[in-house]
Amino acid sequence: MKIITVLGARPQFIKAAPVSRVLRKNHTEIIVHTGQHYDPNMSDIFFEELNIPKPDYHLAVGSGNHGKQTGDMLIKLEEIVLDEKPDYLLVYGDTNSTLAGALVAAKLHIPVIHIEAGLRSFNKKMPEEINRIMTDHVSEFLFCPTDTAVKNLENENITRNVFNIGDVMYDAVLYNREIAEEKSTVLEKNDLEKKGYHLITIHRAENTDDIQKMQNILEAFSKIDTVKVWPLHPRTKNKLASYGIDLNAIPNLKIIEPVGYLDMLTLVSNAQKVITDSGGVQKEAYFMKVPCITVREQTEWVETLEEDANILAGTSVEKILEGVQKNVSPSYKDVFGDGRASEKIVDMIETHQS
Ligand code: UD1
Ligand code: UDP
Repeated sequence: MKIITVLGARPQFIKAAPVSRVLRKNHTEIIVHTGQHYDPNMSDIFFEELNIPKPDYHLAVGSGNHGKQTGDMLIKLEEIVLDEKPDYLLVYGDTNSTLAGALVAAKLHIPVIHIEAGLRSFNKKMPEEINRIMTDHVSEFLFCPTDTAVKNLENENITRNVFNIGDVMYDAVLYNREIAEEKSTVLEKNDLEKKGYHLITIHRAENTDDIQKMQNILEAFSKIDTVKVWPLHPRTKNKLASYGIDLNAIPNLKIIEPVGYLDMLTLVSNAQKVITDSGGVQKEAYFMKVPCITVREQTEWVETLEEDANILAGTSVEKILEGVQKNVSPSYKDVFGDGRASEKIVDMIETHQS
């Protein structure tokens, strides 16, 4: 079969790596990169490190408001899909690239495969929530990472071709963990001791685009004595600059450029705690049994909240500090599958076809 994969943002490259590896054994995959992320350390580095085949098409859409960014993707993608006539179009997660891919295919009657389907935060102010709901409702195959995701879809009357196959990000962690241990020198380079630092990532629009929330978050960080390392997402960097906020004022904080996946796995697995608003990083902390504090009001990854493996702190200074100080010893259950999600996805599509 012939499948077009549409991707464009950092987490999608990581999700695509294990799936693409399995898919290409017996099928033709055409990769379309929308260009949503374009800095070398937000895009190229992942293709190189994870051996993701070079995109067949690059739309170079770049940054912009939601309408412009998504609209440009729709126009360019439609031409490619009409031309290539794939059997399926595959999308990951909940970014604007996900929505654009799904919408174009659905309108052209090309069945959409959605990987990481069924996630909900129940907060429609998040662009990701709109993208997920819309994508799920036009998808033909819905591959869910958890039982909760399957139930969320059931609640919206989506029950056909819904499968819980586990999380492809778990596949990626299992595949790359030892490679990261061998190759990454990020700890040495940044003078970090194993379990001697907290890892921070903050980039979600719901936080970055609200100066008050950012001030709270940074106030909490300034009250944490432990060394903190923060690979700074370009969105956050730009927003903080526009607010005139200088991160150098925060003691024991090491700001670094966004890192590659192998460095990131190393940073997560050796952290004392992870403080994040990222979806993917919450899960990676869980997979690698590192306590997490999530700087958001909701999480789609509710399984991680069990036994305080992940503490939902919102943007309250006190709650963030409480979360960081709390001693936790969760049991980390196998709720994200067995690390074979990618194989199951390809098997399932093949079975359906034959
Ligand atoms: C997007 C996703 C978000 C996901 C995140 C992963 C949407 C609506 N949001 O958010 O769900 O968690 O990717 O990282 O799709 N920028 C650069 N260089 C780049 C990319 C972005 O400088 O390579 C800057 C630009 O100023 C841009 C801003 O970051 O305006 C935001 O980028 P955008 O892709 O619109 O959204 P993200 O915040 O990255
Ligand atoms: N990540 C990375 N380098 C970084 C920050 C994150 O490789 O500097 C990886 C991280 O390990 C995870 C993915 O990017 O696999 C998560 O992406 P992000 O936090 O940008 O988006 P989200 O998951 O919130 O959509």
